[in-house]
Amino acid sequence: MRNTLRQPEWLDNAVFYEIYPQSFMDSDGDGIGDFKGIISKLDYINELGCNAIWLNPCFKSPFGDAGYDVEDYFTAAERYGTNQDLYDLFDEVHKRGMHCILDLVPGHTAVTHPWFRESMKAEKNEYTHRYIWTDSIWENTAPLECIRGISDRDGSAAVNFFSHQPALNYGYFRPEKPWQHPMDSKDALATAGAVKEVMRFWLKAGCDGFRVDMAGSLVKNDNEASDGNVALWQRFREFLDDEFPDAAMISEWGEPDKSLRGGFHMDFLLHFGPSHYNDLFRCEEPYFSSRGKGDIESFLKKYTENYEKTNGRGLICIPSGNHDMDRMRRHLDPEEMKLAFAFLLTVPGAPFIYYGDEIGMRYVENVVSVEGGYGRTGSRSPMQWDGSANAGFSSAAPDKLYVPIDPSPDRPAVSAEMDDENSLRSEIKRLIAFRQAHPALRSRGGIRFVTVKGYPLVYERSWESEKLLVIVNPSDKAADFEYAAKLGKTLYKYGGDISQNGDTVTVSGGTFAVMEV
Ligand code: NOJ
Repeated sequence: MRNTLRQPEWLDNAVFYEIYPQSFMDSDGDGIGDFKGIISKLDYINELGCNAIWLNPCFKSPFGDAGYDVEDYFTAAERYGTNQDLYDLFDEVHKRGMHCILDLVPGHTAVTHPWFRESMKAEKNEYTHRYIWTDSIWENTAPLECIRGISDRDGSAAVNFFSHQPALNYGYFRPEKPWQHPMDSKDALATAGAVKEVMRFWLKAGCDGFRVDMAGSLVKNDNEASDGNVALWQRFREFLDDEFPDAAMISEWGEPDKSLRGGFHMDFLLHFGPSHYNDLFRCEEPYFSSRGKGDIESFLKKYTENYEKTNGRGLICIPSGNHDMDRMRRHLDPEEMKLAFAFLLTVPGAPFIYYGDEIGMRYVENVVSVEGGYGRTGSRSPMQWDGSANAGFSSAAPDKLYVPIDPSPDRPAVSAEMDDENSLRSEIKRLIAFRQAHPALRSRGGIRFVTVKGYPLVYERSWESEKLLVIVNPSDKAADFEYAAKLGKTLYKYGGDISQNGDTVTVSGGTFAVMEV
């Protein structure tokens, strides 16, 4: 294992924009977004200040889980365009000095994937052990759920997520049954080899890295420290270091100490797992609500623990949301969201903005599930560009749209927010520009929390000789903190006043500032 992880240089000032391709921009009027639509909106993303995009899976799929059920890793889904359109998207991204990462789903495929079709056969073949099968239909794969009784093969196949997503075989860290292959078995290694081919194909085609789905759960029956999965990813790291050292690897793991040990550059904190991410934006009393009743202590404790364990080796990302969570706007109003974004855009790790969060798009209530979205469907509604039909997303009839548009008469739209200096989007744009201008605020800059609980939230950011103090008070009441040094020049301010009296600093409600130290 190599113990120094080299970060791709571009990640330091990357600000990502997550695009759910179905819902971003429809160029051909079929009610579903597509690559050409995305290309037509790259200038919009760039103008906001985002210089990188993450595209959710856009490969051939039966779309039982919105594309996280891949049928062919090497072919773009027809509804989004051709492979050539995707290559054109990479080119257009690069022309603007931006980067694009794809979604890699290495844990499972669709049941319609040719590997699984072969694997279902009773006769032995190359793919017999590409997935995890028991030796008899009467034995299940507990604690994993399984598919059984759908082919002549006498066995049950483990699944990873929905019951139509069979788990690929990377082996077991501690095999306990004869059908559980060790991590180093020929078939487990063949699976990893096949996934390397997929990575190589897209990296050569011009993509700049991957967001990796369910990265921490490929090797089964792992130990508490996830040593099996860490070891698996360390092997991928060696391959990438040799062939694609600038490819960014970002994991959906939710435990940065493990992910970064495995050689990922950055890990997401998420709505599940031990991070307390929900305490910030998504709970009954979120920290960023102006009610000022939130509790950030557990989040900061866990964050600091992770930060100390991983410092110098990798980044932790706190995303604004994603296609699996309800929208931030469901819990916070646009004013509160400004303070939340002030925080998100001044912490280490590359920020990720979920499409539409920059204008405060709402979670659309009471929509029928689309493509395995269930409760997630309301966060996947079409982007709201302007006041025209279908909010400018598509020329299709409204009942042909992928997910219905937010029906509220006052739904936010890009056009109005761009014209309004005081809009959420305008504040986010200023914050991004400010972040980019200060190395201490970028991905790699250090962080030290001055407050560890309550309001306000105060931290120092530093890189080389630059040291900045960030103060965020989301509560609508004034709040104090102790600071022995004299406050320096104010470089950015939003909201009310900040005054220092001896060692006590008082911050008005709804206020955010960055100062020199
Ligand atoms: C996480 C993805 O973000 C989610 O959308 C998907 O349903 C599951 N992984 C399964 O791939």
